[in-house]
Amino acid sequence: MVPKLFTSRLYPKIEHPFLEKMILPSFLIFSLLSSISKAAVQDFCVADLTGPDTPSGFACKKPAKVTVDDFVFSGLGAGGNTSNIIKAVLTTAFADKFGGINGLGISVARLDMAVGGVVPMHTHPGGSEVLIVISGTICAGFISLENRVYFKSLKKGDIMVFPQGLIHFQINTGRLPALAFVSFSSERPGLQILDFALFANDLPSEIVEQTTFLDDAQVKKLKGVLGGTG
Ligand SMILES: *[C@@H]1O[C@H](CO)[C@@H](O)[C@H](O)[C@H]1NC(C)=O
Repeated sequence: MVPKLFTSRLYPKIEHPFLEKMILPSFLIFSLLSSISKAAVQDFCVADLTGPDTPSGFACKKPAKVTVDDFVFSGLGAGGNTSNIIKAVLTTAFADKFGGINGLGISVARLDMAVGGVVPMHTHPGGSEVLIVISGTICAGFISLENRVYFKSLKKGDIMVFPQGLIHFQINTGRLPALAFVSFSSERPGLQILDFALFANDLPSEIVEQTTFLDDAQVKKLKGVLGGTG
């Protein structure tokens, strides 16, 4: 009974028996993955989101001011807007929005992918990821430090793990929108998208070309598409 209550509070707008079955295993996986946790020395440190997010994290909210709502996040019941260049959106419950998970070494997000949506090559420097497909077909993969490629077409109910820091991707290869939930072994996994790092800023084209071996036309084209300058 406890798991059912827990999941229905996290995702109040989703009445999906499959989801309830799948979220629990992901939390069990992360309870194993997250062996280092501040919770070992104090029971919790709810992030004080009114204060700054410093390199060492948020300050703890005063225990007397903590309520049950600090441990409940209701922001994943609906997906974000996929009308963007990648036709996909990650809606996060990271420590900067969900103060209750601060210091616990876990977090959750939902990934909505429109038809043709893609999460370009990216990494989460802070943690490993488990992806659970709720609906649709997602081709997902990662590249190891030895540059071996591991990818597969995932369907409803499939779970794939992406080891910490490795470059990975997801593509909606189906004819319908796809929905997945992801868990991280960090409350602040971070997200860096390779194409955006290379082509969506003002890093001079010459340096991009020297460091990627792409030619000037390719770099200028991608900078144009992704909003980069220089
Ligand atoms: C989604 O984003 C697009 C592009 O920014 C915008 O035109 C559209 O109104 C948004 N849709 C919703 C439902 O917010």
